[in-house]
Amino acid sequence: MKKDILTLEELDASDFKRLLDRAAALKTRHKSGVADRSLVGKSIGLIFDKPSTRTRLSFETAAIQLGATPIFIASGDTQMARNEPIADTARVMSRYLDGIAFRTFSQRLLEEFAASCDIPVINALTDTFHPCQILSDLMTVAEHKGDPAKLKIAWIGDGNNMAHSWINAAAVLGFTLTLACPEAYQPDPAIFDNACRKNTAITLTTNPMEAARDADVINTDVWASMGQEAEQQARMKVFEPYQVNMQVLEQAARDAIVMHCLPAHRGEEITAEVLEGPQSVVWDQAENKMHMHKAVLDILLNQ
Ligand code: CP
Ligand code: NVA
Repeated sequence: MKKDILTLEELDASDFKRLLDRAAALKTRHKSGVADRSLVGKSIGLIFDKPSTRTRLSFETAAIQLGATPIFIASGDTQMARNEPIADTARVMSRYLDGIAFRTFSQRLLEEFAASCDIPVINALTDTFHPCQILSDLMTVAEHKGDPAKLKIAWIGDGNNMAHSWINAAAVLGFTLTLACPEAYQPDPAIFDNACRKNTAITLTTNPMEAARDADVINTDVWASMGQEAEQQARMKVFEPYQVNMQVLEQAARDAIVMHCLPAHRGEEITAEVLEGPQSVVWDQAENKMHMHKAVLDILLNQ
């Protein structure tokens, strides 16, 4: 049966390990000049309904390096923009392509699309989840701090798509995850409660200092995600106490790392001092998206 990555709930701990091991091996081989060509002759569709720098380019380079051909599809240029049923689009695309990464607004639309596809579908970000980002972020955590299962990971800011995907990863991998979000911007309770039933070390507070205390990893993200531009001003006020700055970082373990999936807004959710400081690993994070996307494509398309 074809395998999708839509929420991370479809992966068990051994799937995570396999992806992380494969990404690390592909990265080492790439750095030593070995070309892995496991996807020669395959075509990979990249449907994007929202802007992207990293996810689009890292999927494109991942596909090209493995010998596949990425095909970028701006949905506005297709019949999707003229209301062709999503299930029809999915069935047609399945006849041409070998795999699809899809960035869109609605998680439900993505899942409807995937249900009508005969080929693997990968969530390249929706309003609800950003699963591949968390896979590559776990790779970055493992490189800098070792086994994520033994760590305290803090999330400070919006209870958004990134937060939801960290929650889903924690549910499977069992690491300690402390989220600090303003009262009105907490994660979806259904996602949170479902994960807490599997891992009691997932907690939620409104106090960023408490979340940061003794953390090995401090994570943040923009205060207004794509599609929430009209809320930017209102959000700025509410989120001000949630800025990741030196005071927050001082609460964390001395050798804590700071992560941000980017794009970052210096002076808003993170100070320039922290983002550019010695504990920031954001450029490794961005690079690892390409290595992890190679592992994702290799494993999903070759099984
Ligand atoms: N981190 C991330 O997904 O970045 P892009 O929006 O540039 O793809
Ligand atoms: N939460 C952000 C992530 C960007 C990669 C957004 O959805 O815009």
